[in-house]
Amino acid sequence: MHIELRDIRKYFGPVKANDGISLVLEGGRIYGLLGENGAGKSTLMKILSGYQPPDSGEIVFDGETQYFSSPADAMGKGIGMLYQDPLDVPPFTVNENYLLGRDRRLVLDYKKASLELQEMTSRFSFELDLLSHIENLSLGERQQLELARLLVGGAQVLILDEPTTGISADQKDVLFDSMRKLAREEGKTLILVSHKLDEVQELCDDAMVLQYGKLVGETDIPCPNEKLVRMMFGQIPERGERPAAKLGEAVLEITDLRIPTYRLTVENINLNVRQGEVFGLAGLEGSGQQLLLQACAGLLHPDHGKMLLANEDVTGWSYHRMQAAGVGYAAAGRLEEGLVAGLTIAEHIELAQPKHKFFVDWKVLTSKTEAKIEQYQIVGRSDSTADELSGGNQQRLLFALLRDDLKLILLEHPTRGLDVRSSNWIWEQLYQRRESGTAIIFMSADLDEIFERSDRIAVFSGGVMSRVLQTKETSVEEIGHLIGGLA
Ligand SMILES: Nc1ncnc2c1ncn2[C@@H]1O[C@H](COP(=O)(O)OP(=O)(O)OP(=O)(O)O)[C@@H](O)[C@H]1O
Ligand SMILES: [Mg+2]
Repeated sequence: MHIELRDIRKYFGPVKANDGISLVLEGGRIYGLLGENGAGKSTLMKILSGYQPPDSGEIVFDGETQYFSSPADAMGKGIGMLYQDPLDVPPFTVNENYLLGRDRRLVLDYKKASLELQEMTSRFSFELDLLSHIENLSLGERQQLELARLLVGGAQVLILDEPTTGISADQKDVLFDSMRKLAREEGKTLILVSHKLDEVQELCDDAMVLQYGKLVGETDIPCPNEKLVRMMFGQIPERGERPAAKLGEAVLEITDLRIPTYRLTVENINLNVRQGEVFGLAGLEGSGQQLLLQACAGLLHPDHGKMLLANEDVTGWSYHRMQAAGVGYAAAGRLEEGLVAGLTIAEHIELAQPKHKFFVDWKVLTSKTEAKIEQYQIVGRSDSTADELSGGNQQRLLFALLRDDLKLILLEHPTRGLDVRSSNWIWEQLYQRRESGTAIIFMSADLDEIFERSDRIAVFSGGVMSRVLQTKETSVEEIGHLIGGLA
């Protein structure tokens, strides 16, 4: 299929999210769509996949102008989009989910569906257990299910919006292999939206770069990373050095902690984190590192062991009590756990206050919000709702909600979905906070980030925590090795 986007415009009030973008996409090729946070990538892909209409401009398939009334309509015409958060329904099995997404008839044909799905999964070497329940699947497996559904639905064009965050290295290889197969053997068009230049280099044939809603460059891949970075930012962003930690008193002391959950039990955790320290937790998604963070935040309760916060026994304290004691927590699921889609930035700022007054003084709140927007360089207004912000700006808002006077900050994937410049900026903010004695514990799927940003590191694998490593005395290779198999 030959696709043309002609002069696509989409404005949101004063924001020109797409400002006259024209592109040509050919079958059998894999395109990388790049650009800094807020450049307009998701907006353009939502237009191409029928999620929203453009203000003006045309989408043309093989010479024929298209109008999509909905994603289902676009799907019927061969466009499928893999969202970052899969759309499946947790209480059902893989098979049932697949069926629900596919068959509109009243009587569901289980047999046919499971045959289709089996064929699809074996063709792409997906290792999906069709009878397993969705809640037992990893993010990577849910993504495979979603992909199978789109393919059986007849997608000719597949759009993947940051598909590799949170999936394992093996799952990424399987995903990339299937993308190559789809392009090379079946002539499909694939579009990868990503901030990870190495992935774009590994997978794509062409890259397109957006900046402030305009297409500012196209290039063949592979090409030097530097060229892509220059196209995205106009210059090479500087990478701030990690200032040496000035360690103070112990902030968090954990002894023999056990955190039981129905899926995984983490035990024998012993950990000390001091003022001004950055502590990195590495490991595949679901290996236990997130459970530890949630226990530190008071969201999960240990059934054994002890937790001290600044010498006070806080074992078993609730989330609100921990918050009041000076623990801040930023969850990875921006729009599931951290932010509320329909609420404005101002409302978020108000809700993040430890104590609420009965009446909200909107004037005070608005000026406070504007100060935060300025400080955290959020592209948005105090009355913009969270879902109107680009992924990167949602992440900035999460940071703006962390109180200034915290003893301990817990972060899941602090720079997930952020471009290089925004990640550097976020880390500078965090370094500033540690200057004043805050301790930081973060988990990340990005090994380079763990290695570059942490003073000390622990690796999780199957609920087991490794010994604590000094970053100076280890290497990315050693951490990678530990991630592979501790248990
Ligand atoms: N529904 C909406 N209402 C208001 N503004 C919006 C809406 N959707 C997007 N925007 C704005 O359009 C601009 C482009 O957003 P978009 O989500 O396309 O960026 P992006 O390139 O995908 O960024 P990121 O890498 O951070 O995901 C942003 O400034 C965003 O706030
Ligand atoms: Mg986006």
